[in-house]
Amino acid sequence: MKITVKICMGTACYVMGGAELATLSEYLSPKQLECVEIKGVPCVDACFDQKGKKPPYVIVGDVMMSEANINKVREEIDRQIKENSL
Ligand code: FES
Repeated sequence: MKITVKICMGTACYVMGGAELATLSEYLSPKQLECVEIKGVPCVDACFDQKGKKPPYVIVGDVMMSEANINKVREEIDRQIKENSL
């Protein structure tokens, strides 16, 4: 089983940090790379209706992360690798 990592590539997310997140795979360990499938996806419709939450959004497995950055996403991937004993 792989953990799907969806990086929002919509305009709001892209300008708020999504562009950097698109290089995520360069920052992952070999173990992390083995366990994830990374996809860029169109606007996930969270940019305007999440109260108090801000772009960029990344969905790791079934966890929606706001104000995502490479470190936060790496930590969440590690947490899910442990949780799912991958
Ligand atoms: S641009 Fe990312 S949620 Fe809309």
